[in-house]
Amino acid sequence: MLRRWCHIYIVFLFVACLGSIECQDDINDGYGYSWLMFVDEAFNRHLLNFSVLPSHGIRYGKPVFYLYTRNNREDPEVLFIPDDEEYLKSIYFNGSNDIRVVTHGWMSDYQVGWLQSIKDTLLQHYDLNVITIDWAYLAKNPIYPWSALITRFVGKQTAKLLDACTNTYGVGRHRMHLIGHSLGAQVMGYAGMFLNSEVHRITGRYG
Ligand SMILES: *[C@@H]1O[C@H](CO)[C@@H](O)[C@H](O)[C@H]1NC(C)=O
Ligand SMILES: *[C@@H]1O[C@H](CO)[C@@H](O)[C@H](O)[C@H]1NC(C)=O
Repeated sequence: MLRRWCHIYIVFLFVACLGSIECQDDINDGYGYSWLMFVDEAFNRHLLNFSVLPSHGIRYGKPVFYLYTRNNREDPEVLFIPDDEEYLKSIYFNGSNDIRVVTHGWMSDYQVGWLQSIKDTLLQHYDLNVITIDWAYLAKNPIYPWSALITRFVGKQTAKLLDACTNTYGVGRHRMHLIGHSLGAQVMGYAGMFLNSEVHRITGRYG
């Protein structure tokens, strides 16, 4: 698991480097000290100027988990993390089927086209429980480092939900595949870290 985790971290560093290489042309004094440039998943560049950080930068909120199955492809069911010792309550979750979790990255949300099309394609080919994580309120923050920090929390929440799937429906870690883009890959790395044992697979993408 450590190796997977490292891979994701390397991808993350690569994105961060890509961001800095791309703006070598317009480099000024103070890069990395007074300002930074980041690239989001639509390849838009965002300038982060430390001297004019918005005061509303610190955001707190909880991720929302949406479940899609072949019985509700277009009409997601919101899943709530149960209290300790309680079972997950779901109409559509099918314990016979594996779990795929998909999430977006920085400055994005779960309705982004590629994410919905991954969900559609998965369900077209396999009978699965596809869970998408919407952490847009936290991800749509011009202060990239804050969004990056909060991935740990989102990952932990995800691990709690997946634990509940195991406890309630007996779906083991070996039947879970976590897919994330950009900071969403960080989320999945943390989710894997917080789960008690290894998940089957984590896929992270930067672009
Ligand atoms: C950051 O903001 C300060 C204060 O407004 C400004 O002087 C500086 O040029 C800005 N830096 C960049 C790289 O835009
Ligand atoms: C649950 O999944 C199994 C195996 O994919 C399938 O045979 C069964 O019909 C599903 N149950 C419901 C209620 O959809």
